[in-house]
Amino acid sequence: MTVRPAEPEDVEVIAALEFEAFPDDAWTVDYLQVAIGGKMPTVRILVADGEQDTVVGHALVSVVYEIAELQRIAIAEEHRRRGIGRLLLTSAIDLARREGADRLLLEVREDNAGAIEFYDRAGFVEIDRRERYYRDGATGIVLALELASD
Ligand SMILES: CC(C)(COP(=O)(O)OP(=O)(O)OC[C@H]1O[C@@H](n2cnc3c(N)ncnc32)[C@H](O)[C@@H]1OP(=O)(O)O)[C@@H](O)C(=O)NCCC(=O)NCCS
Repeated sequence: MTVRPAEPEDVEVIAALEFEAFPDDAWTVDYLQVAIGGKMPTVRILVADGEQDTVVGHALVSVVYEIAELQRIAIAEEHRRRGIGRLLLTSAIDLARREGADRLLLEVREDNAGAIEFYDRAGFVEIDRRERYYRDGATGIVLALELASD
């Protein structure tokens, strides 16, 4: 299992992962192409390669000065609960630190119990709630991880 920056040829598979994980607001091929092409200067996309170098997960991070945001993380359904999400998250945290961030923020749906447990295990803490944050009216929980090195 390796984690690496996404390349233009990964766009289709990332778009498929997006659609599987976030059917209501998936990032499209066009949008991903712009991001991977470097035209969204704050956005970085990482992918995890499984066996036979097939992409099985992705994470999208944006870093603006000291604040990083984990905008997406998704693992293909049949590859979940094998530590790949944790590996991608660790890589996203390392990337955010390298780019100078001291805090990593994200929003998670309050009904996404699996992801909430995943972030809790990684040390994230709730700092805010945003009612009707999602298109279907679901509440978003804002989580933060302090990145300042010890
Ligand atoms: C959340 C997600 C990225 C986790 O990826 P993953 O590869 O399955 O996670 P890992 O195997 O690295 O899990 C690490 C730990 O997190 C916790 N965890 C992960 N998924 C969990 C779940 N569904 N239920 C409860 N705990 C979970 C567990 O403690 C797990 O350790 P364990 O398997 O030894 O018990 C994945 O479920 C996913 O893609 N979900 C759909 C997209 C999504 O909701 N993304 C987050 C949006 S904010």
